[in-house]
Amino acid sequence: MKTVETIAELQAEVKAARDAGKRIGFVPTMGNLHEGHMILVDQASEECDFVVASIFINPLQFNDIDDLGRYPRTLAADQEHLRDRDCDLLFFPSVDEMYPHGQDAQTTVSVPVVSEGLCGSSRPGHFDGVATVVSKLFHMVQPDAAFFGEKDFQQLAVIRKMVSDLNLPFDVVGVPTCREENGLAMSSRNNYLSEQEKDNAGHIYRLLNEISDSILGGSSQFKTLCDAAKKELATLGFKPDYIEVREANSLRPAKAGDNELVVLAAAILGKARLIDNLRINLS
Ligand code: PAF
Repeated sequence: MKTVETIAELQAEVKAARDAGKRIGFVPTMGNLHEGHMILVDQASEECDFVVASIFINPLQFNDIDDLGRYPRTLAADQEHLRDRDCDLLFFPSVDEMYPHGQDAQTTVSVPVVSEGLCGSSRPGHFDGVATVVSKLFHMVQPDAAFFGEKDFQQLAVIRKMVSDLNLPFDVVGVPTCREENGLAMSSRNNYLSEQEKDNAGHIYRLLNEISDSILGGSSQFKTLCDAAKKELATLGFKPDYIEVREANSLRPAKAGDNELVVLAAAILGKARLIDNLRINLS
């Protein structure tokens, strides 16, 4: 696997692969790679002939400078993981390479409606930062397919909507969430948890499952179910941000009669803001 740091090198490598008739798969990341990222690479190498990953800790999507500063930077270990899993090319650009005219002078991409509410409320501007960097990376790589984790359900919805609205000509593939034994969704932010907090963090997935079971059992008291789960999280030492049931495709608030639902949660535990979700299919 080759690592390149400039857009010119990236595009030369991708062009050579495309000229050789290869289908290009792209896995954008912010690094600190874990098994949840590796299954994205596995899926990309199953569906494509040449896999490009990127590692870029995108300052535009952080609304807290301390959060940006402490985000784990683990390039050597990340390169090793990618090498082990059939990644062909790593793009590791600097902030100047990505934003040569400064972040404030950067044209931004904003995806309305799906970016609003949920994490969009507690992290203002976050999804504009994500849509902007992902759109730039898409234009640089010009993949045939791009792979994202379903753990970041709202992010995936934002990217799918952007790709559809801007008529970008490739597939966006959502890959199921990788979990620890207790159900905790794998995330780079789990590194901020103590062992005890990691055990406790499994309650988020348990509560999502309990809400799902009640809905599958016939309840459409979405708010009551979510409020009760939030209360329980608070008694377990979390600071719950939201638990909401939404229609899974549009992300609008769910109503009785919707068949494809998703229950989404965000909560702070210790130093980590954890998010998770569970799809519920009633059809
Ligand atoms: O999910 C992430 O790691 C980031 O939000 C992404 C998609 C790489 C954009 O910076």
